[in-house]
Amino acid sequence: MSRVRGRVVVLTGASAGIGRDTAVRLARKGATVVGAARDLVRLEALAAEVPGVEPVRCDVGVAADRAALIGGVLERHGRVDALVNNAGLGWQSLVEDMPLARIQYLYDVNVVGLIDLCRLVLPSMLERRSGDIVNVSSMAGWVATPPFAVYASTKSAVNGFTDALRREIGLRGVRAHLIMPGPIRTEWLPRSQGFEPLPGAEENRFGGFPAWCVAAAIERCLTRPWPRTAAVPRILGAGRLVHMTGIRQALDLASARGARATAARRG
Ligand SMILES: NC(=O)c1ccc[n+]([C@@H]2O[C@H](COP(=O)([O-])OP(=O)(O)OC[C@H]3O[C@@H](n4cnc5c(N)ncnc54)[C@H](OP(=O)(O)O)[C@@H]3O)[C@@H](O)[C@H]2O)c1
Repeated sequence: MSRVRGRVVVLTGASAGIGRDTAVRLARKGATVVGAARDLVRLEALAAEVPGVEPVRCDVGVAADRAALIGGVLERHGRVDALVNNAGLGWQSLVEDMPLARIQYLYDVNVVGLIDLCRLVLPSMLERRSGDIVNVSSMAGWVATPPFAVYASTKSAVNGFTDALRREIGLRGVRAHLIMPGPIRTEWLPRSQGFEPLPGAEENRFGGFPAWCVAAAIERCLTRPWPRTAAVPRILGAGRLVHMTGIRQALDLASARGARATAARRG
């Protein structure tokens, strides 16, 4: 399918940032966007503003919520044309300072939740020989640096999973895409530093590219005939080169100096 109009799209993390911009973009182009997140108040405000967005409360880290999300969509609409796995969390910390519960939650949301949602939509997509799965990873999945080691590892897992999934389903009518955003101006960094999201305040705290750039890249996944791996902005596709020996050694040295300074500051 090369159009957005009329498609049923399940989009996680629709209450803020990249997910919110994606929901607005796809709904305005005629998709039915089932927008999922934990904050139902924000989702309902979005749905009131943008016709075509259906709010569903879902903690992607909770198995029962995931099953209810996909089961509900199949019951109401009879199909899922596209799944956009966008919900994700970071945590800024040296590894030795990170609570185990936080590590587990990052994996539950960023990795297990994402894989399970794919697992839940695949049978009906494969049966219809049609569907798109768009997984939102991060440049950190290519260029892993402290103090985001655990977050980076979750995104490397997303990359590996999506590559294998694309090969697993590619000849059976379903496409798996990977989006690799660089720094994007959203609530992600403040949240990763332990702050509650403050809508509107994010632009003052964190420079980066606007979220609509990622939303546009996600839309292109739904309208192009082939599976995509897309860095946003495109120039950051050069991030793949980081595993070349000289580049990796330079990055090791620069990052290690930064991490040593962080450790010294916190005593
Ligand atoms: N911003 C960046 O610089 C950047 C760079 C690379 C990749 N990314 C990735 O892009 C994706 C979107 O991030 P963003 O920048 O838009 O961040 P954001 O502004 O913090 O938005 C995150 C979204 O995910 C939702 N979410 C978080 N935990 C959830 C959970 N357990 N269950 C359901 N929804 C959950 C949040 O909604 P609720 O709080 O309402 O649940 C929110 O809608 C993430 O996967 C992130 O890792 C971001």
